[in-house]
Amino acid sequence: WPSFAAALALGYLLGTIPFGVIFTRLAGAGDLRAIGSGNIGATNVLRTGRKGLAAATLIGDALKGAAAVLIAHYLWKDVQQPLIAPLFAGLGAFLGHLWPVWLKFKGGKGVATYIGVLAGLAWPVALMFCLIWLAVAALSKYSSLAALVASIATPSLLIFFGYEDEVHLFVGMTALLWWMHRANISRLRAGKESKIGAPTAAPS
Ligand code: G3P
Repeated sequence: WPSFAAALALGYLLGTIPFGVIFTRLAGAGDLRAIGSGNIGATNVLRTGRKGLAAATLIGDALKGAAAVLIAHYLWKDVQQPLIAPLFAGLGAFLGHLWPVWLKFKGGKGVATYIGVLAGLAWPVALMFCLIWLAVAALSKYSSLAALVASIATPSLLIFFGYEDEVHLFVGMTALLWWMHRANISRLRAGKESKIGAPTAAPS
């Protein structure tokens, strides 16, 4: 158990790094939390009109999730059940992104970090996630809808690709991701969600 708690804490700390806030500030584009939806993720960085910054945010937020999993895998590879520490580290990174201690626990909605954790644990499923995301985003122009659809498909995809031991983690992460998108879901239902790249968005 101590190693699982350590893996969770390690993942959490990595997950708290708010790349969107950091990159936007470094680029002199202001405080991301005062722009668009106020969310700290790549979708909101795109509302600054800086595509490169948005891409860097997406990559950074995904990489911290993958890094948490891979570091835990390396550190605890000789224990009896070597998958458990990476699972805890991935969960920690996701929770760290959602509720970072440094930002008074007001973090992001978790899509990029979800993809990173998935890439570290089950890369073929992460690829499928990205394909579904791209297809739904291309058809609907809604970033939130794309993530909701791709994440709900993930547990079944994990089973299909033979990653049964990872399913519980992603059922929990999908539930949290949907919860974080509850304002987006209301807006989608009301036809008021902002489309990808639109400069304005309701705060959420
Ligand atoms: O899943 C997309 C999510 O990041 C939406 O962000 O800023 O439109 O609430 P935002």
